[in-house]
Amino acid sequence: MQILVTGGLGYIGSHTSVLLLEKGYDIVIVDDLSNSNIEVLDNIYKITGKKPTFEKIDLKDIRAVSKLFKDYKFDGIIHFAAHKSVNESLKKPEKYLSNNVGSLENIIAEIKLLENPINFIFSSSCTVYGQADSMPINESFPLKKAESPYGESKKMCEEILKKLNNSNHSFKNITLRYFNPIGAHPTGLIGELPIGNPENLVPYITQTAIGKRDFLSVFGDNYKTKDGTCIRDYINIMDLAELHITCLEKLIAVEDENFFKIYNVGTGKGTSVFELINLFENVNDIKLNYKIGDRRKGDVISAYADTTKIKEELSWSTKYSLENALKSAWNWELNLNKDE
Ligand code: UFG
Repeated sequence: MQILVTGGLGYIGSHTSVLLLEKGYDIVIVDDLSNSNIEVLDNIYKITGKKPTFEKIDLKDIRAVSKLFKDYKFDGIIHFAAHKSVNESLKKPEKYLSNNVGSLENIIAEIKLLENPINFIFSSSCTVYGQADSMPINESFPLKKAESPYGESKKMCEEILKKLNNSNHSFKNITLRYFNPIGAHPTGLIGELPIGNPENLVPYITQTAIGKRDFLSVFGDNYKTKDGTCIRDYINIMDLAELHITCLEKLIAVEDENFFKIYNVGTGKGTSVFELINLFENVNDIKLNYKIGDRRKGDVISAYADTTKIKEELSWSTKYSLENALKSAWNWELNLNKDE
């Protein structure tokens, strides 16, 4: 089976690509390298002993997308490719709408030309819920007004997929609303590699611990939560990667040619920023230099998943721990800096 993995050199894409190769799938990785590094391809090879086909393509380019679908016959598509900085999206909303929505539209134009229903997995985000009224968040919660153009772009993509599902074109889709993925591959060869200043908590922690950043700023300690800091649902990247295999297998097996499901992807457990910092310090035996800073604009106070639906329908639950994620993230940072 040949699977198209867009954004396959990115954080979630690279970990999923490794597992796909290990499971015996042929994959075609498409990436425009806008927020990833070509060396990831070598590292996927080092881990799996297999060289995935790679195409450097900007998915906004309709002609390139059309050629891609002429050159290959895909049995499945996992669409990770997207810009993902909430902050940048506030400054450059157009970039987010044209890239995240435009790329999906180009792919869908090609899907509509296919004879057989394609197996399609879409990367969405818990950001579509905004600040939910209660916790944990289940899939039937209303989608709130997006806090950022990034969030808006994910909402628009979900709408586009719903429309396609309601049209008379057969199309099998699972949309995954990720909570907060963290950690790295156990080999330390691939992990989260933000270009420039990290925005997410764990890369900021590891870069501070190694001395690339002077200190971590905790964005607010006066929220109405157990210890005053924000609550998130941190999921181990290895669990997340495995889930994509589960979803792909489900889509391949299911006979309903209009199969359409949305799942929350988290652990079901809320962890505060302070709890995460303490755990990082404990499991890695490191002292982290951090200070309390101002609240970050656009942060929701709390977000963690109700995992009932995904557990029941896909028989999937997480198996890696938070401790493992924080150890592997640190191992990855150490590996990155070995030669410097
Ligand atoms: N945080 C800090 N200091 C930092 C970075 C983050 O205190 O330097 C805090 C944030 O305030 C937040 C928590 O750590 O409370 C997690 O922040 P992240 O930036 O790691 O993650 P977010 O939950 O803000 O964002 C993530 C994804 C987005 C997605 C969003 C949906 O990165 O792509 O979840 O809620 F849109």
